[in-house]
Amino acid sequence: MIRAEQKLSMIARHAPMGLAEIDGEGEIIEMNLKGESLLKPVIIAHDLNGNNFHEILDHIAPGVTEKIKSAGEEAGHILANEPYSFYLNFGGEQIERHFNFTIIKLSVDCIIICFHDLTQKRHKENAIHDLINERSIIQGKFEIACNILHDIGNAIVGFGAYVNRIRRSLDQVNPANLQKLTEFMAAQQAELNSLIGDAKGDALVKMLAGINDAQKVLLDEIRKSVTEQHNIITHVQDILTIQRQYVAGNETQEQKPVNLRSIITDCMSMVYASIEKRAIIVSVNIPDVMPVIKGDRTRLMQVILNIMKNSIEAIDITASEKTIAMNLSIQKDMLVFQVKDNGHGFDEATGKQLFERGFTTKASGSGLGLHSCRSIIESHDGTIAITSEGFGKGALTTITFKI
Ligand SMILES: Nc1ncnc2c1ncn2[C@@H]1O[C@H](COP(=O)(O)OP(=O)(O)O)[C@@H](O)[C@H]1O
Ligand SMILES: [Mg+2]
Repeated sequence: MIRAEQKLSMIARHAPMGLAEIDGEGEIIEMNLKGESLLKPVIIAHDLNGNNFHEILDHIAPGVTEKIKSAGEEAGHILANEPYSFYLNFGGEQIERHFNFTIIKLSVDCIIICFHDLTQKRHKENAIHDLINERSIIQGKFEIACNILHDIGNAIVGFGAYVNRIRRSLDQVNPANLQKLTEFMAAQQAELNSLIGDAKGDALVKMLAGINDAQKVLLDEIRKSVTEQHNIITHVQDILTIQRQYVAGNETQEQKPVNLRSIITDCMSMVYASIEKRAIIVSVNIPDVMPVIKGDRTRLMQVILNIMKNSIEAIDITASEKTIAMNLSIQKDMLVFQVKDNGHGFDEATGKQLFERGFTTKASGSGLGLHSCRSIIESHDGTIAITSEGFGKGALTTITFKI
């Protein structure tokens, strides 16, 4: 019997939670080791003598002392697993603690208090909570960013198309007609004067010359402004592409039916300004009927845009012949897209490094383009390869997709 009691008391003494027995007045009759170590900081911080649990409780869990005092005669739970938070003041620093209490009344003079320190657990929970919050905020921001980029991208493509239309219309305006009319009228000055009088004749010819000059200036202005708008659109599109690449690393991948033909056409309109500026002759060959593949349109656009840009950038602006040929074809169960340029190409050693992250031969290149192209294409179950017969001999980029 004694052995059993000893065992129990040993278990209680070394239990991993604080255990205390107090009497009706709060005097501590017995307390285990864990209890002593948990309460010690409270006793020191509030300069207590440490003999009365009620005094200690008043600093940890205000109101609990009253609950104990006002509990009825019969035995039972006064508190069951109740959490309490309090602050300890150490050298001016407020330290937050979280304790959890279970209080059981056995008799008027025997109350058992069991308590845990939950501070660390709380901290961990809070940290996890903060992390989850932070993640969802970041995710939310990325979703908003994706939508905005997508919307601006769409608006810019539309804007670009209108600017192109204005440009084409301008090309059809022929200022030479007005010029000829002005010259013709000037040549007929004498006859005109005899018909409608000197003053009116002179005025008419002068007015026509003025209109002609103003028209020329105006047309020049509009042309300049349209070209400028084109450059701005290209610039904004470049920024959007970079931002998209950044966001793409954080967005979940979507695989929807996509039409490569429309992706190629959209990309073409995005690089149109630089092609025109360099006077590169571009041919595009796409069959009328094209199978639809599954993929992420934005990412595939990123790939094709990057390949077109690499070809454009490989062509020397002073070269006499500047060509890019694009070809989309079906070969067995494959959809094959090829971009062939007659730019500077590359030697064998360079060829081996093209897809390495950060590899670039350009002064202001990032070397990220082909690296991300490859991971995008591979995530679409496709392949990408670039070949060249040597430096100065152009390059051929080939992308394949399974149909
Ligand atoms: N069509 C091409 N002709 C010649 N070299 C190319 C071609 N495409 C890519 N390259 C080479 O591959 C390198 C890496 O391309 P990329 O990853 O897109 O990075 P960046 O364009 O920023 O240099 C380029 O710097 C260039 O040397
Ligand atoms: Mg590139």
